[in-house]
Amino acid sequence: MSFGLAKGREMDVSGIGRTREDLPPLPGPGAPNHAQWIDPRAWFDDPSRPFELEVGSGKGTFLIQQSVIQPQTNFLGIEYAGEFFRYAADRIRRNQIANVKLLYHDATEFIRRVPDGIVTVLHLYFPDPWPKARHHKRRSLNDAFLREAHRMLINGSGGVPPGELRIVTDHPDYWEWMEEHFEKWTVGAPGEGGPRFERLPFTSPDSAKEGEVVGTNFERKYAREGRAFNAVVLRKAAR
Ligand SMILES: C[S@@+](CC[C@H](N)C(=O)[O-])C[C@H]1O[C@@H](n2cnc3c(N)ncnc32)[C@H](O)[C@@H]1O
Repeated sequence: MSFGLAKGREMDVSGIGRTREDLPPLPGPGAPNHAQWIDPRAWFDDPSRPFELEVGSGKGTFLIQQSVIQPQTNFLGIEYAGEFFRYAADRIRRNQIANVKLLYHDATEFIRRVPDGIVTVLHLYFPDPWPKARHHKRRSLNDAFLREAHRMLINGSGGVPPGELRIVTDHPDYWEWMEEHFEKWTVGAPGEGGPRFERLPFTSPDSAKEGEVVGTNFERKYAREGRAFNAVVLRKAAR
């Protein structure tokens, strides 16, 4: 499959892209939880800056647009389709954007290795809907994802608000599935006080153009088809 991505041109991911082979191996059984952790902030020139993560970054359009507006923030995109990863990494390198890196990996696996409380914003835009019931288990958003998201997001202190998970989808059935999950994970949900999010209306990033929700490639494609979008912000709440 070529996805129509710059056919015939060599992609150069150097300086931007990392792959599974670049990561330390998982520790053996019985190792403490933190032994598996990898801190991706160390991949940037200034690891002390705020750190945002995009799951399923596709052609990298959101990262490229927003990183220019937020030059003091480090952005990591995780993408498991090799052609998209290479295309986006090459594009970021050619544009000489220093505050964006990409990882070629399954994001649902990698996020388990991200340390607690380091992510200011987690972006999930137009995740694959996997419409058939037997494929629902492949959907990125599920209870495990929300648990990891809550764990990775910063707690907020000293005037810095808690971290946020920002989600947009075009798919009505996936949105229904998401809503069912949000009910379990938002403030006021029944049950003993587990990790919770505060549900807020979605606000578009500054890089979005007039009339856009975020302005990703898939959003632009689906907007041309006249599809409607649903979006939400889930802000980490104290237990
Ligand atoms: C429908 S596309 C949306 C891409 C981009 N966010 C946009 O809005 O243009 C979904 C992307 O997520 C990637 N993806 C899906 N599941 C993933 C996972 N578990 N880990 C990393 N990437 C994933 C796909 O390869 C694809 O590029």
